[in-house]
Amino acid sequence: MTDLDKQRASGPDAGPDAGPDTGSGRIGEPRVEMRGITKSFGALDVLRGVDLTVRRGEVVGLVGDNGAGKSTLMKMLAGAVTPDRGEIRVDGVPLAGSGPRAARAAGIEMVYQDLALCNDVDVAGNLFLGRELYRPFSRRMDTKRMHEEAAKDLATLHIRITDTRRMVGAMSGGQRQAIAIARAVTFEPKVLVLDEPTAALAAREVEMTLQLIRDVSARGVSVVLITHRLQDLFEVADRFVVLHEGVNHRELAPAETDLGGLVTAMMGK
Ligand SMILES: Nc1ncnc2c1ncn2[C@@H]1O[C@H](COP(=O)(O)OP(=O)(O)OP(=O)(O)O)[C@@H](O)[C@H]1O
Ligand SMILES: [Mg+2]
Repeated sequence: MTDLDKQRASGPDAGPDAGPDTGSGRIGEPRVEMRGITKSFGALDVLRGVDLTVRRGEVVGLVGDNGAGKSTLMKMLAGAVTPDRGEIRVDGVPLAGSGPRAARAAGIEMVYQDLALCNDVDVAGNLFLGRELYRPFSRRMDTKRMHEEAAKDLATLHIRITDTRRMVGAMSGGQRQAIAIARAVTFEPKVLVLDEPTAALAAREVEMTLQLIRDVSARGVSVVLITHRLQDLFEVADRFVVLHEGVNHRELAPAETDLGGLVTAMMGK
């Protein structure tokens, strides 16, 4: 967390009184504004003028059928895919088409559905990928410090991986997913996008991930959660945004629907 974030987090809208629950008091001004997002892959019109607003501290559940365009929309926010048309603003600053570095600099972190981890690099190396620590006045990486910091980061997140020297490729799906989440969180993002983060996790780890989402959102981080585990969304989301065949179909508050209602909306009804 930056000092500014800490200051903000101790403000009236996100202090301890706001509590860890999803009361609207912690939700602030719009942070992400995506407008008229359009994308085709060849003849396939994947997104046709989609809008999405995410407020400070808000947890948005982005749902829709397979192929509805959820991952593509979020890859655009993370700078990995360039929209054909449309605007993306983060805290008012235009971002569309400026690439992954600019997105990261703007505070966007995404855990990809297909986990962008390096299999032949160890746990610490993956956590520090792209922001490696170096020894003072040297071009040599400070691997000792990276392992120490990685172990600390994992412990803070209650992730039970004790050996940060293990190659990620040799680890289980759930462990890899946990590492990818830890990696994103330790960048201290303003906006955390989780694309199916819990698909490979055991029940205990799912609960931990949901708690992590509550914790970061209570500190003012905006979260977009994509998951087919709809019951998880009811635990953490402030709002559901339903995409259907590349357009905005519905927006629902958890209080005004139930699992059946959300499934129906996802089917485009
Ligand atoms: N790079 C690409 N090239 C061609 N087609 C693509 C590409 N990326 C996505 N698509 C297509 O765009 C459509 C939307 O894909 P996307 O991954 O955004 O869906 P999704 O809503 O995330 O689905 P799921 O729930 O299955 O993850 C799909 O039909 C997919 O095949
Ligand atoms: Mg997807």
